Amino acid sequence: MCFFSPNRDGIIAIVNRGGVTVMIIDALVDSTANFLEKVNPIFDAGGRERKHIKSALGEPDITFTFTWDTSPATLWATNSRLLQFQTARISSGDITIQSTASQETFWNEKYTAKYSLEFPPLVYVPLAPPASQQDDAARAYSAFLKTFPEYQTTWIIDTLRRTDFARLDRVGETYVDYMGGSQLPESLVRVHGDFLTQSVMGNTHSVSSRQVYSKLSTRCADEARDAILSFFRAPSGYTVIFTANATGALKLVGEAFPFTEDSCYVLGTDSHNSVHGIRQYASRRGAQVHYIPSMSTGGFVPSTAKEILRHHKSKSNNLFALTGQSNISNAKNPLSILDYASSLGYYTLLDAAALAPTSVISLSETPVDAMAVSFYKMFGYPTGVGALVVKESFLQQLERPWFAGGTVDIVQVPGPIITRTARLHEQFEDGTINYLTLPAVTDGLRFLSAYLPFLPLRLSCLLHFLTTSILRLRHDSTGTPVVKILSKLPSRRLRSVGEQADTGSIISLVFLSPSGQMMPNSFIEYVAVSQSISLRTGCMCNPGGAAALLGIESDMDRLYPGVTLKDFEAAVGRELGVVRISLGLASTFQDVWKVIRFVATIANDGSRQSLWDSWMNIPIGQAV
Ligand SMILES: Cc1ncc(COP(=O)(O)O)c(C=O)c1O
Repeated sequence: MCFFSPNRDGIIAIVNRGGVTVMIIDALVDSTANFLEKVNPIFDAGGRERKHIKSALGEPDITFTFTWDTSPATLWATNSRLLQFQTARISSGDITIQSTASQETFWNEKYTAKYSLEFPPLVYVPLAPPASQQDDAARAYSAFLKTFPEYQTTWIIDTLRRTDFARLDRVGETYVDYMGGSQLPESLVRVHGDFLTQSVMGNTHSVSSRQVYSKLSTRCADEARDAILSFFRAPSGYTVIFTANATGALKLVGEAFPFTEDSCYVLGTDSHNSVHGIRQYASRRGAQVHYIPSMSTGGFVPSTAKEILRHHKSKSNNLFALTGQSNISNAKNPLSILDYASSLGYYTLLDAAALAPTSVISLSETPVDAMAVSFYKMFGYPTGVGALVVKESFLQQLERPWFAGGTVDIVQVPGPIITRTARLHEQFEDGTINYLTLPAVTDGLRFLSAYLPFLPLRLSCLLHFLTTSILRLRHDSTGTPVVKILSKLPSRRLRSVGEQADTGSIISLVFLSPSGQMMPNSFIEYVAVSQSISLRTGCMCNPGGAAALLGIESDMDRLYPGVTLKDFEAAVGRELGVVRISLGLASTFQDVWKVIRFVATIANDGSRQSLWDSWMNIPIGQAV
């Protein structure tokens, strides 16, 4: 298989050679004309390859013609603006790719037989570790590559890290809180900033003599809707409602779902509070709420879920909310359970906030009634925009509890009459949508389309290495383990680009003292901050998942109205919460290596004790 995938301003050629996927070129281009000026130095290990590509492209026999196309794609990785490869021939001593195929045949698997390829040697240029750790890190990196050679097929992300995420290394931050929010690619902000400063955008609701301004905003909003539908491979019949975040999308469903005394709401214990919150709407209307228990490492047993769905299905309007991936336990629930719930007559809601950033979601394969996402979790920018991707037929079942500007065509004042606006999605978008940011959503999806295929493999390598390394670390005084990983570990290691993982790339863990006691998370946070590591501690707004990991589900019965977290911790006799390390879009070996060094600091008696002493000396109430 061979395909070319454009991002906003780049080209990636990916070739599958005997089962090994090789990324050949990542060139940042604005147009054919300045292609040569903008060759991204992916092969910058001494400049040889870079020069090679440049000079090859300068040769007169090279035809490099392309046009952008806005039709939706059918191929993974390229589902927004497609590169239409009419004639493409990029050659050098090492690389020859020829195509005279039209777009259709180019994408066609049958095309495999038509191209001729010679491959460059695999050149991998690691990011330089800090001088103090150079030897250690370099040795660890070579050992890592020996164990995980497939990591090299994801080197495009290292290029990305050197360009779009260079600031992380510039400021020396090890960012491992991708589940909290992805880091943003700089080019996305630049392109968006340029667009805003060169455009005049008006309120999408405005009708004025200069309608052109609001028309541009409306066009950008429509483009973003199309890009979202295309990204999630939504078949016809779906629409997009813009919200402030995934929570806003979940709330839209909760508040408008026609719960009755004959309904039920079924959800997993290992869910985000924004999914639990829907139970308030259900209970207020007299519906039953039923929980699917969590396994000790999160998620649920599918057969138990099926049994609960079957057993509790009520007479009318039943809703099943599924957490695609838990934000604390790392468990992915099988999406096929949605089909099952649907076959029983449930309406289905997928919380994909944690799933979407690193997993392929196809609404054609999983035609859920509604799905909630936040875009900052997927590509870091912009914040303040999420979406409910939803079947129009489902929207027609919902009963909005109110109306607002933008959602109505006419309102009788005073009086009870309202007519809602004709466009279904507008009936659910209260007030003015965040129209200035929507071009960045379109571009962000384009950007992620290009890199998403590589993420599961890359994160699988990094996660395996990280977990095995920290589990192996021992306290130097007692030889006892330093960490206990509580979250779900993947059942298998991925081997090639295109495979999907059965978990996310989160590790939730607790740190153990030499005597085996859990160390305070606030101390761990202090040590992390002192080493410029961004991670997160606590329950991550997922109390059921946290309780399952910590083995304190039965203590939930001890809660009473007005109880605080402090009260609960006192009653249970332990700190409630975990340390969460989450990898994502721009994660590299160096990040993982820094985390391992950080755990090693705690394993070392001397360094841990001195950090402990300084932590104990921080005045109470002073933030880390
Ligand atoms: C699984 C899950 N659902 C929902 C949310 C809520 O997302 P947001 O805060 O963007 O609304 C999160 C946030 O972390 C999450 O991880």
